[in-house]
Amino acid sequence: MSPSSIPSSPNNLRICCIGAGYVGGPTMAMIAKQCPEIHVTVVDLNQSRIDQWNSDVLPIYEPGLKEVVEQARGRNLTFSTDVEGGIRSSDMIFISVNTPTKTHGMGAGRAANLEFVEKCARRIAECSVGHKIVVEKSTLPVRTAEAVKRILKSAPNGATFDVLSNPEFLAEGTAIADLLAPDRVLIGGESASAIERLAQVYERWIPREKILTTNLWSSELSKLTANAFLAQRVSSINAISALCEATGADVDEVAKAIGTDSRIGPKFLKASVGFGGSCFQKDILNLVYLCEHFGLADVARYWEQVVVMNDYQKKRFSTNIVRTLFHTVSDKQIAIWGFAFKKDTNDTRESAAIYVCRDLLEEGARLVIYDPRVSEKQIRNDLLHVFKDQSLEVSARHRQLIEKNVTVVSDAYQASNQAHAIAVMTEWDEFKQLDMHRVHQNMQQPAFLFDGRNILPAEKLASIGFEVHGIGRSSTLPS
Ligand SMILES: NC(=O)c1ccc[n+]([C@@H]2O[C@H](COP(=O)([O-])OP(=O)(O)OC[C@H]3O[C@@H](n4cnc5c(N)ncnc54)[C@H](O)[C@@H]3O)[C@@H](O)[C@H]2O)c1
Repeated sequence: MSPSSIPSSPNNLRICCIGAGYVGGPTMAMIAKQCPEIHVTVVDLNQSRIDQWNSDVLPIYEPGLKEVVEQARGRNLTFSTDVEGGIRSSDMIFISVNTPTKTHGMGAGRAANLEFVEKCARRIAECSVGHKIVVEKSTLPVRTAEAVKRILKSAPNGATFDVLSNPEFLAEGTAIADLLAPDRVLIGGESASAIERLAQVYERWIPREKILTTNLWSSELSKLTANAFLAQRVSSINAISALCEATGADVDEVAKAIGTDSRIGPKFLKASVGFGGSCFQKDILNLVYLCEHFGLADVARYWEQVVVMNDYQKKRFSTNIVRTLFHTVSDKQIAIWGFAFKKDTNDTRESAAIYVCRDLLEEGARLVIYDPRVSEKQIRNDLLHVFKDQSLEVSARHRQLIEKNVTVVSDAYQASNQAHAIAVMTEWDEFKQLDMHRVHQNMQQPAFLFDGRNILPAEKLASIGFEVHGIGRSSTLPS
């Protein structure tokens, strides 16, 4: 069904979302599921992504997502590439496109690339008639709404617009639970009636007191600030993990001890090989850029350290593997358990695994990679991408390294068969269920295990015969 042929909904609200990604897809599926009388159309330029949304194999993996999509798809939820039709036939248009870090030009490596958001605003201006509410769902630098409003003002057909900011706080891996019961929904805007219209959508399943309204700029800045604070906690505990390793303290014990202080709280204090995902690094760099833009150099340096510490943590992990394996991994086989940036997602953007694999490949290691949800194609693409030089080329040597020294397999046992070491990169639950006696038996001896997520029982593994190196704790030698 094309968007323009969908019959009008009882309360006349029709929603279109531009961008069928990790945010647009699940968010709109949840709105459609909870509000059967609202027609929701998700549009994207990417034909294969839309085809996947219309198939049994969705483009993204999220626990519970398929059930939500299947409940609403074909009823009041449509996925389409007809961007113009979607815009025309809707009263409320969400912009949920990607806002990656700029790779070239002014602000490269820091500022957000707003090209896709601007294109959406221009398209909305061109295609709209009457009055529309435009909702920024993408994470945007503070004051982007200003630019969006200016572009919309140039609409050739006399259309009028209200612009709202409604940043998304879902976390991948728990997106459905987060959308069903969010800590809060944030709506920033100038028009009380537009804010109310959007609030009424969320109110269908979220208590009113959890729907916060602010001015546009507070809403835009709150999203960047939330991600900066979350990432800061990870970098803080990771910094302490290095000190734990040097002193004999155990970072999980320290995290537990400080987390019981109600002023600190227990969440987001898990030390690891470093945070990943498409948002934390990008949003902090964006914050850094904004601070620099407004002449706040000291504030910029302060937040930049969160990313610097994260890079240090990833590097520390790969360096530790090389050092421990007698200062060389050349021609040694290393099993990589997990490639996604966290469990319960197939998203690999900025995954720590990519950087650790890069370092180990540079040292001549042979990698056998297993992830329960990430495809071989994605893994190879990510590795090619990380080896791109400044002119975005991959050298013949690096291509050869990936072709010859990377094998992708379909289970963890296969990955560790004949391996000199295992590196746990993602905290997938299935790694905790493995028969570690069997794993140990089939490895080269001495068998090393580097637990980048501290999910496996180090003492028990040592009793089997592993030499275990976790994060923020002393190594555990075979007993
Ligand atoms: N992924 C997360 O966990 C998360 C959480 C909260 C907020 N966000 C923010 O939400 C935004 C979207 O993130 P995502 O992870 O969903 O990105 P994504 O890359 O998964 O999806 C973006 C989609 O937009 C489409 N697109 C780009 N330009 C378009 C255009 N002009 N017309 C139609 N479609 C277009 C792309 O084809 C792509 O499918 C970003 O700003 C991100 O920072 C992401």
